Amino acid sequence: AAADQSGVWRFRELLPIVQEHEIVTLREGNTPLYHLTQNAERLALPELYAKHQGMNPTASFKDTGMTAALSVAKARGFRWVACASTGNTSAAMAAYAARAGMRSLVLVPDGKIAWSKLAQSMDYGALTLQLKTDFDGCVAVLREVVRRAPVYLLNSVNPYRVEGQKTPAMEIVEALDWQAPEHVIVPGGNLANISALGKGFAEMHALGLLPVLPKLSVIQAEGANPLVRTMHEFSGEKLEPVEAQTRATAIRIGNPASWKKAVAVLRATGGTVEQVSEAEIALAKARLGAEGIGCEPASAVTLAGLEKMLIAGKVQRGERVVLLLTGHTLKDADYTIAYHRGELLRADEVAGPEQAALAQAIRD
Ligand code: F0G
Repeated sequence: AAADQSGVWRFRELLPIVQEHEIVTLREGNTPLYHLTQNAERLALPELYAKHQGMNPTASFKDTGMTAALSVAKARGFRWVACASTGNTSAAMAAYAARAGMRSLVLVPDGKIAWSKLAQSMDYGALTLQLKTDFDGCVAVLREVVRRAPVYLLNSVNPYRVEGQKTPAMEIVEALDWQAPEHVIVPGGNLANISALGKGFAEMHALGLLPVLPKLSVIQAEGANPLVRTMHEFSGEKLEPVEAQTRATAIRIGNPASWKKAVAVLRATGGTVEQVSEAEIALAKARLGAEGIGCEPASAVTLAGLEKMLIAGKVQRGERVVLLLTGHTLKDADYTIAYHRGELLRADEVAGPEQAALAQAIRD
């Protein structure tokens, strides 16, 4: 059966119950866990890995959730699905809806998502609307739409998406011979992914498959750091809200839906939250690219954040660390080219001599 080829439905005993013939799959999951040999050496952290969720059918981690949620939507007889998105959710939803023979409605912030993501939802036949607002504004409009029409809502609070998105936790443990890593580091936007992975590890723990939970940590961009601000507020420091702003457009979110769950995961596992600058993101992305592991800027916050955690003593040298890379490098080629044209960093800030020379050559 098609579902047997899916890295998500391999774990069907732990997933929502749908009939075999109702499963909507594009053979998602089963993504590689790469050993990051060069960055491991640079950081003196021998056991450094990347779980590359960009190696999914629509090139982001969203596919693992969409296979579960679209299967449920189909089983329940919906004809339309909808979401607001910074681009990856919409690309995944559109593809799975098309596979299921359903229609999809996509709301994205005008001019604030990467072109390839917009192109994907069009290619997969979604009714794609660019609204003159930000992601948080798109969510507000979507709420009105689902109140008035029989549309199945596929935003990140959808519980079935969370079910599918927990399965990379199982794959990570499986790939490490059923040993948990000490740290799993995840980019934070709407905070669904950290919540889902937290659930995955917790379930394995409850089943006795995992003696100790890994510490799950969240990294945000400085300009889109609501979780960082929340944690500050818990310690009594009030920070003024600002409009979310980062070139890592996937995580340009000011009001994350799943913040309470994310806080619970951080507390249950002893993980931490860090923020990283635009320059740190750009540099980290180049450092991954330079060892053959391409990802989009939102994914690269994990490496940048790890470096801060090392400096702060929150990661010890002998520990096993897994970075969650959420999207493929081709999702945002404009960003990469801007970096190598020297538009994001000064020449003396780039990753290594080869890249400095390349940046110079391109500018000349
Ligand atoms: N990385 C990428 C590449 C993303 O697309 C997203 C979220 C995140 C990280 C953050 O994950 O929201 O679960 O904390 N993208 C959503 C979207 C918001 O609409 O595609 P999160």
